[in-house]
Parts: sequence; C-alpha cells; structure tokens
Amino acid sequence: MRPIIPDYLAEALGDVEPDASGEPAAYIPELAAADPERLAAAFATVDGRVYGAGDVDVPFTIQSISKPFVYALALADRGFDPVLARVGVEPSGEAFNEISLESGSGRPLNPMINAGAITVHSLVGPERCAPADRVERVIRGLSAFAGRQLTVDRQVYASEMATAHRNLAIAHMLRSHDMLTEDARTVVEGYTEQCSVLVTTRDLALMAATLANRGVNPLSGETVVSETVVRQVLSVMFSCGMYDAAGDWATQVGIPAKSGVAGGLIGTLPGRIGIATFSPRLDRHGNSVRGVSLFERFSSDMGLHVM
Ligand code: DON
Repeated sequence: MRPIIPDYLAEALGDVEPDASGEPAAYIPELAAADPERLAAAFATVDGRVYGAGDVDVPFTIQSISKPFVYALALADRGFDPVLARVGVEPSGEAFNEISLESGSGRPLNPMINAGAITVHSLVGPERCAPADRVERVIRGLSAFAGRQLTVDRQVYASEMATAHRNLAIAHMLRSHDMLTEDARTVVEGYTEQCSVLVTTRDLALMAATLANRGVNPLSGETVVSETVVRQVLSVMFSCGMYDAAGDWATQVGIPAKSGVAGGLIGTLPGRIGIATFSPRLDRHGNSVRGVSLFERFSSDMGLHVM
C-alpha cells in the first residue's frame, strides 16, 4: 500500500510552490542570502510516526521558533511566579521587534516578542547562572525537544550580532526597568545564539509533537518539561505566536503556532500531532508566506481548527 500522508504533503507543497510572494528576512544579512525556493512540510504524531515531503532535512536557523521552547525551559527552571513577574502573557498586537513593554512596570507584554524572549533567555537555568552555562542549557533543552543534539550556526550568529542594534536597544530598555538584571549585551548575545540553533523541518515537527505529547518526546521518550508548563506555553503560542497576525491566524487556522524569520513555522495539536513547514519568503508580519498557506490548507482539509 502506498503511504497516503507523504503523497498528501507532496501535493500540498506542489500547490503552494508557484507562490513567489514575500521576501526572505533582509535585516540579518546571512538570512537574506538564503535560497528562497526551499520548501518542506512534516507531520510528527504523538505516537512517534514522522512524515515529510520536500526539503525536510535541509538545516536552517530556528530563530523565533526557539521562543516557546525556551519559555518552557525558564518556567521549568525557575517556576511560574518569577517568570510571570518579568514577562506577561498578553498579545501585543505589534510587530515582533517592537518594544511592547507595559507602561509603568516596563514588563514585556509576552514571551513571543523579542522584548519578552530576551528577558526569558535571562531566566533559564539557576539564579546567577553564568552566561555560557545558560546558553549550554538552552541548546541542551532545545536538543531534548528535538530528540537529537543541535548546534549553533556561527555565521548566522555573527551576522545577526553585527546588526543587532534594535535588540540591543530593547535589552538596554529592559535593563533600565530592571527586567534584566545583568549586562544587556551579554543577554542579547545568548539570545542570538539561541536563535541561531540549526534545525530541520523534521526536527521542528518533533519539537512541536513533544508539546502535543504533553512534554514527552515521542521518539526518545524523554520528559522534557511538565504538562503544566506545556499548557502555559501552548496558551501563549495561541494568543501571541503569530504577532500582529495572531487574530487572523486564530480564526482562520486555529492551531497554537510559532513562526521564525528564517522561514520555519510550527503548529501543535494537543494530544495529536506536531506540524512544521519551511519556506523562507516572509509576509509583512515576518511569517512565512507559503507556510501560512500550507497551514490554512492542513487546517481546512483535516478539520484541525481547535474550535
Ligand atoms: O531577534 C530577532 O530579530 C531574530 N533573531 C528572531 C526574530 C524572528 O524570528 C521573528 N519571527 N518571525
């Protein structure tokens, strides 16, 4: 019998392939040079079956898709209260790189935007964790979600750090409000390493499936974080994961999701599957154009909308 799911995925990729609208991220020079034609989709079920089509094994940097997973690590390492004291859970309705701090307190609105994610990075590991140990904990944690050892793309890291003026400005604002309690530049360096971790579409599907499987990697069987942490992460992904397109996404696709500027996109259906797509051209919100189309199709074809 021919496997049905890879055929279905290949057909879906074929349908979105002609769409050449959008542009790869331009503000990180190394990403602007990415091959815009790359295209992939993968499903990973909670019982450990993985299906893919297209460029599923081509590596690219995780970028903002790291944010929900590192939020999970911070919640696991420090507990809810210390993390919530520094980062809220409200949608910002603004772009991912807006400052978006609560007036008065200076607390970033949520962990999916850069301001929140930079703060969350600083909350991984024990208190007074050395920056290098924290980065190691982040890479180890992301690797556990994926079920294999991940590495950092040094060229993308150097390229982003050379142009990280906006994230540095945000981090200094956070430092001025004591939301960051250590050197702003060091935290941005760690956060940028986090964003420069290399993954494939297959890895991302498994990472999303680990959330779908309540924190247990479906292939390795490792419990990466608790069910309570996963519930918090998926709730925030649902309301804030697609930035200022989060409302459109919630109504039209209806799956907790997260995008990254290298062109990755993940979605998690609790108790069922993790979905990932990869296509580098982005829309004006910084979300992958063909990735959004693929998710709209998957949601409608398979009735995946959670409502
Ligand atoms: O901080 C940044 O700007 C990037 N490292 C990540 C941004 C990102 O992926 C936004 N997502 N669509």
